Amino acid sequence: MSEMLELIQKRRSRRMPFDLERPVAKEHLADILEAARWSPTAHNMQNFEIVVVDDRKVLEAIGSIERPISETFIRENYQQLSFSEEELLKRKTGLLGTTFPPSWRNPDFRLDEIDEEEIASTRRPMAQSPVLLVVVYDPSRRAPASEGDFLGIMSLGCVMENMWLAAESMGIGLRIVSSLSSEPEVKRILSIPDELIIAFSCRLGYPVSEPAKYLRVRRDVKDFTYHNRLGD
Ligand SMILES: Cc1cc2nc3c(=O)[nH]c(=O)nc-3n(C[C@H](O)[C@H](O)[C@H](O)COP(=O)(O)O)c2cc1C
Repeated sequence: MSEMLELIQKRRSRRMPFDLERPVAKEHLADILEAARWSPTAHNMQNFEIVVVDDRKVLEAIGSIERPISETFIRENYQQLSFSEEELLKRKTGLLGTTFPPSWRNPDFRLDEIDEEEIASTRRPMAQSPVLLVVVYDPSRRAPASEGDFLGIMSLGCVMENMWLAAESMGIGLRIVSSLSSEPEVKRILSIPDELIIAFSCRLGYPVSEPAKYLRVRRDVKDFTYHNRLGD
């Protein structure tokens, strides 16, 4: 159990360039997909398909899609940012402001004034990834009586975590890239039919350098655990 817990604690978002000269070994990729295969899914619907993108040209095409920045994202993102390590340690949730471009940390930002270079910097990671996995789901493969496909969507979270832990156990970095999900151009490039939805995408690879230390916070177990009734 302690080994499992150690792996769970070690897993983290690798927001960094990956080594393009070092492709993810076929057998390691196969293990990551095997981990996805054995994910629990509501009613065992196995409601997902995974597109493995490892062709440089396709990765570059996806990376160069002009993705607009969402005003809602920046506004809501701002609300959960901490502006110092002390603040983050106190809050125990959310992210440190320095993770984001400077103009996104300005409560009075104006979308039309956001620096083009800052927007481009959020797209660049794709060009620094030897492999991208695009996980799509079919909402018609819905678990019985699951309003809004809630159980199906939770199942996709299990797929994500299984793959993430498998990658981490082999020293392969993984970063989720949510913004590709809402991008119709990605579906076109990958020939994903209209009726399927992109749940999430993740970049995989070996970090080019030792990751910089960054502060990771979590609430304490006692902060979210209740006994026999929810409340103090
Ligand atoms: C559903 C989901 C979507 C996420 N989307 C992104 C994303 O688009 N970009 C990103 O860098 N991290 C993304 N993350 C990673 C979280 O930000 C990250 O897990 C969280 O900040 C905790 O940090 P850790 O993974 O290093 O423990 C996502 C995670 C989940 C579960």
